[in-house]
Amino acid sequence: MPHHDHAHGNRPIEGRHSRNYDRMARLLMKPVYRRIAADIAASAPRGAALLDIGTGPGILLQALHRTRPDLRLSGVDLAADMVDLARRNLGDRAELHAADAAALPFEDDRFDLVVSSYSSHHWGDPRAGADEIARVLKSGGRLLNYDFPHAPWDALTASGLAAVRRSPFKAGWTSLIMKTTRLEAEKRP
Ligand SMILES: C[S@@+](CC[C@H](N)C(=O)[O-])C[C@H]1O[C@@H](n2cnc3c(N)ncnc32)[C@H](O)[C@@H]1O
Repeated sequence: MPHHDHAHGNRPIEGRHSRNYDRMARLLMKPVYRRIAADIAASAPRGAALLDIGTGPGILLQALHRTRPDLRLSGVDLAADMVDLARRNLGDRAELHAADAAALPFEDDRFDLVVSSYSSHHWGDPRAGADEIARVLKSGGRLLNYDFPHAPWDALTASGLAAVRRSPFKAGWTSLIMKTTRLEAEKRP
């Protein structure tokens, strides 16, 4: 479950906190992830290779697998504990790694789509994260990022990625208590 925190800086969610996060996300936030998954599914090409950055316990990837079993799913999280929980939740439905957004363990031009939910406001160096996203995206590939309005939106589109659209996103009942912004960005030629 997303939590508001206004300070930026690399902050993995670990140990007891990661287990509590997993429980809360699965109990309360499923409708939110279903909505985000439906939004992603609407523009993902058939059989697309998709990476979720800061995947946490992998709830968005689970929802994506249910909606679009044709997608080839990968996920990374800075916290090894979260990656363990994601492995438990996803089994072999996704390739998972413990990694920083700013140092992605993938070759260039690997993904059609990079997505992220409620994670980019935690990244220590969002500009380096965006450059890494641009590196691992294929030409014409896109980023879809869903996060709080105070996330580092400008840093994400400062170099390798160009903003296509940034708008408020209605994420179900949680819109009553928290606002979500959606950024669609494309790899610069
Ligand atoms: C609020 S949780 C969101 C998890 C998941 N995306 C969701 O929506 O349930 C933020 C996640 O970002 C991860 N994170 C923080 N900094 C990161 C970084 N630099 N690179 C990758 N993951 C990071 C944290 O460990 C945590 O699992």
